[in-house]
Amino acid sequence: MNDEIRQSEGSVPPPLLIRGGRVIDPAAGLDGCADVLLAGGRVVAVSPHISDGQVPPGARLVRASGLVVCPGFIDLHVHLREPGHEYKEDIASGTRAAAAGGFTTVCCMPNTTPPNDCRAVTELVLRRAAEVGVVRVRPIGAISQGLRGEALAEMAELKEAGVVAFSDDGRPVMNAELMRRAMEYARMLGLPLVQHAEDLSLSAGGVMNEGPAATRAGLRGQPACAESVMVLRDLELCALTGARYHVAHISTAASVRAVREAKRAGLPVSCEVTPHHLTLTDAACCSYDTATKVAPPLRSEADVAALKEGLADGTIDCFATDHAPHAPQDKQVEFDRAAFGMIGLETALPLLLRLVEERVISLPDMIARLTSRPATLFGLPGGSLRPGSPADVTVLDLQRVWTVDGTTIRSKSRNTPFVGWQVRGRAVLTVCRGEVVHDEMGPLPTAPPAPR
Ligand code: DOR
Ligand code: ZN
Repeated sequence: MNDEIRQSEGSVPPPLLIRGGRVIDPAAGLDGCADVLLAGGRVVAVSPHISDGQVPPGARLVRASGLVVCPGFIDLHVHLREPGHEYKEDIASGTRAAAAGGFTTVCCMPNTTPPNDCRAVTELVLRRAAEVGVVRVRPIGAISQGLRGEALAEMAELKEAGVVAFSDDGRPVMNAELMRRAMEYARMLGLPLVQHAEDLSLSAGGVMNEGPAATRAGLRGQPACAESVMVLRDLELCALTGARYHVAHISTAASVRAVREAKRAGLPVSCEVTPHHLTLTDAACCSYDTATKVAPPLRSEADVAALKEGLADGTIDCFATDHAPHAPQDKQVEFDRAAFGMIGLETALPLLLRLVEERVISLPDMIARLTSRPATLFGLPGGSLRPGSPADVTVLDLQRVWTVDGTTIRSKSRNTPFVGWQVRGRAVLTVCRGEVVHDEMGPLPTAPPAPR
């Protein structure tokens, strides 16, 4: 069961005319005031002025002047927790959180219970997504059976069932020989391999980044090289096999350097960075707020600076949230014992807009890294507003100031250190497959009927 089946089953949403916004579509090289017409689940037209005569009868009108209109965001890295951990999140709540954050496609990691290491689980996720998901869900299949890192999962079968990439995320593939064979299969199947780069022998026992902050906090650290050692090993295997290799949640200066050099050498490598690794440093862990405990850990100021350089020079391809919901019983415990992870779908946009304010990247660059870049990396539809593209659109109010409030979070889990932060920028309308799936604009008027 996939998007196509869902579309043929669902009722066709009315056409939608989004008028007068600043349309930013990096894939089409577009940044200017324009109207966007959606109908039949597709983008029909983007033009400086769509006349009433061109608008199909019954179309809804969105007045977007003063707002930014862009392709729906795509997140290559979320944890939806279904099946098995529905007390933390499920496909219904996770996709509602995604829509509220402006995302129209989320790729979900296989570390569920049971893990997504076989056709039955992929099909279950796709079926539940079709039944209750409000945005598109594309599963990522496991690299190894049971995510145990011992034997390869049935990668060809997973691809047939509909996965868009492979990863054991949450855990690294420690065995280099297994990783080599996974890369050989992934190359044959034409899908990327996503590594959670962490050498467990180096990170063992660490609950935050190793360094002065960990010493101050009295918490055991994981050295930054636990990540880069794994990235460097994998780059050797990437050179050997020619597989497309994607580093999940890159977080250290040395990893960024390694990816930069590998790209220069022409290797098929890419990487993503999370909003939280760009916003916070390991100093945040000194609060002992377990919401700051993530894998990889929040890093030093120098690492954050290197991540920003990597964004500015294109080494870092895209943003991904690593939305990792956890329940109070997983987090309201001693820092040492708490689960790794924070939610991220609903706060990504305002945190990333800070990079635009700081002039690390431009607004179109930020949008490209949330739309066209991730779409290209995983071969996903969407990521552009070119006519014929899926009707996945996000409307942003860059001026809206709001406070992150635990009680209004759509996710089932509240594990974010950003509660109480006053932030700027919000998705005020999210349209997926032509349907409004998140709306903070108020009731939509109907466009005047076309003259006959
Ligand atoms: O912080 C994290 N949480 N990092 C991961 O890689 C896994 C994730 C989770 O599943 O909770
Ligand atoms: Zn991970």
